[in-house]
Amino acid sequence: MTAVYYEHIKTCKQSGARLGKVHTPHGSFDTPMFMPVGTLATVKMMSPDELKEMDAQIILSNTYHLWLRPGEDLIREAGGLHSFMNWDRPILTDSGGFQVFSLSKLRDIDEEGVRFRNHISGEKLFLSPEKAMQIQHALGSDIMMAFDECPPYPAEYKYMKDSVERTSRWAERCLREHEGNTTQGLFGIVQGGEYKDLRRQSAEDLVSMDFPGYAIGGLSVGEPKHVMNKVLEETMPHLPDNKPRYLMGVGSADALIDGAIRGVDMFDCVLPTRIGRNGTCMTSEGRKVIRNAEFARDFRPIDEKCDCYACKNYSRAYIRHLVKSKEAFGFRLTSYHNLYFLLNLMVNVREAIKEDRLLDFKEEFFEQYGFNRP
Ligand code: GUN
Ligand code: ZN
Repeated sequence: MTAVYYEHIKTCKQSGARLGKVHTPHGSFDTPMFMPVGTLATVKMMSPDELKEMDAQIILSNTYHLWLRPGEDLIREAGGLHSFMNWDRPILTDSGGFQVFSLSKLRDIDEEGVRFRNHISGEKLFLSPEKAMQIQHALGSDIMMAFDECPPYPAEYKYMKDSVERTSRWAERCLREHEGNTTQGLFGIVQGGEYKDLRRQSAEDLVSMDFPGYAIGGLSVGEPKHVMNKVLEETMPHLPDNKPRYLMGVGSADALIDGAIRGVDMFDCVLPTRIGRNGTCMTSEGRKVIRNAEFARDFRPIDEKCDCYACKNYSRAYIRHLVKSKEAFGFRLTSYHNLYFLLNLMVNVREAIKEDRLLDFKEEFFEQYGFNRP
């Protein structure tokens, strides 16, 4: 058995969504699942105990950031990322491919890898498929990601074709570097932008290499929603049913539901924690900007339908006061609520799949949420 594998439980008869479990060396998680992001070995504002209290079953962290600071050697010396950050459930690490492209302006990409400048110190650095594997081996994540190129949107066909082919060659190099490792699962990343034939080519290349799971990358990079949905519909048929599928960097409530309907098992995004730190809350009635004057004397919880710690104990008026005063506790409460909201949304999605009514659930959800009506 491989280190990471998918157990299918059932397919929703109404929508085609998948209910399952992914097994890893640090335990299993239910799918479809949302993974909170802990870029720097911490989910910003949250302790591991709080993450467990909201039943986060897997978190994500980043090769690129941890390589630059504090460095993979220090984390290896600490006994790996799980022990360093005191999180004993599954961890997925992204490969740095995406972060190099999104954070570093001065970069130079060739067959060998990517040369760029450290976004903190300006120092010259080089990241390759081999190096990205070595760092993730030191981190000891349960699920590692292949080193890929995430091209911008839109990109010309010719650029995208060359990029997809290089990403496939890089995936081969990642596999070779990963050979012999039986305690971590390495996922391939399908690219190809909005081009149907390139998505197919990328998926077929990677599937022939037999990864234990596949991600769909290069989405949520500025394309309209209908493009994301179309790409998912065109890519899924080329991925095996018995492996997990992970849609990278997607975390809005509507995209999670639309993704699950199209067969996605895993999602991650900084959205809930990022907007939480700027005082915005995701609720069953859509987003609420808690610092707005309308909430000054509103003593109801952030979301009347939510039973998270923040909603059970504190009012919109109090949280607005904290956020306006830039008190850390205010941002902790909004971050806690937003993460809970997405984790709970996925509980409801899994329940709806179990009962073959995910399309009905989507309808009811958007009735209240108030946007993205099809
Ligand atoms: N995060 C969001 N999109 C991507 C992607 O295309 N590649 C990688 N490695 N990470 C991502
Ligand atoms: Zn809440």
